[in-house]
Amino acid sequence: MKQELITFDEKNKVFHLHNDQISYLLSVEDGGTLCHLYFGKKVNNYHNQLRYPRLDRGFSGNLPGSLDRTFSRDSLPKEYSTAGEMDYHTPAAVVRQADGSNALFLTYKNYRIEDGKPDLKGLPHSWVKDKSEAQTLIVTLEDKKTELNFDLLYTIYRDRPVIVRSVKVKNAGKETVNLEKVASMQIDFVDRNFESITLPGAHAHERRVDRSKIHQGIHVFSSHRGTSSHQMNPFLALVDPDTDEFQGDAYGFAFVYSGNHKFEVEKDQFAQTHVNVGINDFNFNWQLNAGDAFQTPEVLMVYSDQGLNKMSQAFHSLIHDRIIRSKYKNEIRPIVVNNWEATYFDFNEDKLKTIVDDAKKLGIEMFVLDDGWFGHRDDDNSSLGDWKVFAKKFPRGLDHFVDYVHEQGLKFGLWFEPEMISYDSDLYKNHPDYLMHVPGRNPSPSRNQYLLDLGRKEVRDNIFNQMEKILGSGKIDYIKWDMNRHLSDIYEADLPANRQGEVYHRYVLGLYDLLERIVDAHPDLLIEGCSGGGGRFDAGMAYYDPQIWASDDSDAIDRLTIQYGTSLVYPQSMMTSHVSVSPNEQNGRITPFNTRGIVAMWGDLGYELDLTKLSQEDREAVAKQVAEYKKIRKVTQFGKFYRLKSSQTSNQCAWETVSADQNEVVLSTVKVMASAQPYLTKTKLVGLDPNKQYEDQATHEVYGGDELMNMGLYDPAEHGDFKAYMYHFKAIN
Ligand code: GLA
Repeated sequence: MKQELITFDEKNKVFHLHNDQISYLLSVEDGGTLCHLYFGKKVNNYHNQLRYPRLDRGFSGNLPGSLDRTFSRDSLPKEYSTAGEMDYHTPAAVVRQADGSNALFLTYKNYRIEDGKPDLKGLPHSWVKDKSEAQTLIVTLEDKKTELNFDLLYTIYRDRPVIVRSVKVKNAGKETVNLEKVASMQIDFVDRNFESITLPGAHAHERRVDRSKIHQGIHVFSSHRGTSSHQMNPFLALVDPDTDEFQGDAYGFAFVYSGNHKFEVEKDQFAQTHVNVGINDFNFNWQLNAGDAFQTPEVLMVYSDQGLNKMSQAFHSLIHDRIIRSKYKNEIRPIVVNNWEATYFDFNEDKLKTIVDDAKKLGIEMFVLDDGWFGHRDDDNSSLGDWKVFAKKFPRGLDHFVDYVHEQGLKFGLWFEPEMISYDSDLYKNHPDYLMHVPGRNPSPSRNQYLLDLGRKEVRDNIFNQMEKILGSGKIDYIKWDMNRHLSDIYEADLPANRQGEVYHRYVLGLYDLLERIVDAHPDLLIEGCSGGGGRFDAGMAYYDPQIWASDDSDAIDRLTIQYGTSLVYPQSMMTSHVSVSPNEQNGRITPFNTRGIVAMWGDLGYELDLTKLSQEDREAVAKQVAEYKKIRKVTQFGKFYRLKSSQTSNQCAWETVSADQNEVVLSTVKVMASAQPYLTKTKLVGLDPNKQYEDQATHEVYGGDELMNMGLYDPAEHGDFKAYMYHFKAIN
């Protein structure tokens, strides 16, 4: 018999979401207050003992109309706090009402449990293949005065240490209200001394791991750049001080959304930790008319009792298996040559053909034509919005070149930046109003380009139709969907003045709509996301793009930290990584070709250089890397991934992947700086079968699984900075 994943104890009013790995408990307390009881390792025998002790707390007021001084919404750990009640935590929701007040008092109304998981229309979301793999609890809280209903949605999967949360606000009243803030989730922890782990960064410097102590006060990790951003990835982990990669509690929160986000962590006066995750309330104001509903994006919450690696593995498997939809999700990704760093804007068909010819000889599988093929784009000052081939560069048309690439046995990929417009474009000449701007103000350029007002259907239709003219040929195998600036001049021409607070979110909904139409019309298209590298690397984009360009910084040593941070949340197959020239074009660093290859092999491998200019030695190296990668990519792209050592905290970086059957293992180590008197280091593998014998595919030496795990391997003590080593083991018994 199928086991229920959610139970409700009617007598004690306790909901228990559970599977073999985790439990999540919440209860209905005095005054219909929805209280958080527990999230963590599975509890088999809950006897209703752990209830929040009642205390008379000074300056923490009580329920309206009650004389009980020991019950306060200010101290009780809750599932959803609002402004205006006697709860001084950072509210999850703020709603401005017809009378000008923002006071809400949410009380428990009812609940229902559904098999499976409801789809979130218009938003990316995790999904189920069949309804038996998950259950969803929907608890409705109501505010009696406004007749607003807040549906709190909790999905638990049968086989994952994951709870997925979102909120749907329905206006069942007669008056219009304005949502000024509506978080997707809140959780309150008691008696934890958490540290936060976040992924801040910058363009070409994304997702560096930051670990900080949480002190009393409010800590905010957010973006209000209109995208999920390079500057703060939409992710947070809360960990105990002694949690590391392999041990200790880790709670991870990843937001399935590509726009403005806000993660609030508040350590309160009683050392309790309050967390909200949702759309950033900066310039957010959503008009909710009577009868309307607002659905928030969702948050993936992972619990790990064995440190960060286990947390990441749960995210990897959830995002890969149940967010990514593309037909390519389980297919090994083609090895790419991309002409961006090879030619920048300076190319024509004949020049590109020589790169294609070399790519064929070297075993590369796809040619990607990057920026500069459309309009009259010879630099980045023009033509965005004009998705017609640039005749000067392709006098015989794009198809002619695409056919050539296909004839050489390579797939063909094409770059687009669909959300943008240049002043110097036909699109601007014909539709100046499509450019997002505030009436009467000069919009701000960034990279001399501007945003399209993507909230408007007419604008999206125009871009969709233009893209269709290219994609309709059926010859394009892949597109790179780029976005090279952040939002400013926030205003949507189709909206009245009192709804301009909706623009940021409507932009993201417009983007999702456009992407959905492309995905729908071209299920065979492989889409790679990009935003000046990894500026929109989030679980929301994964719903449309199974892979994303991780960073505009292609330097192997910087990539160690970028890819390390990325791996906290996102699966390897989602991360594209290319070998480029040395000295590196972004930071001038000189690294060995071998190291550049090894680091790039941890994602979807490509080359971002002019193959025709390579020395004979480097050509041979490319051919060798390509051949080697073809042998290991199934495991590096889809195996269970472990971080062993971080170059952000040591002189080494080590990564490992293991196939599901534990028969194949890939390990790489990179030593950053050399020393005249090096300390010897060892790398110990993990996740192997201790009883199997593993053969090193290069040396044919055989090692016991337990030997590799318990004793480890000595890292080579070679001269020279930035040396990298790759090991490929296969079980022989
Ligand atoms: C962005 C991308 C690059 C390249 C350029 C082209 O910076 O991240 O990979 O496509 O745009 O303009």
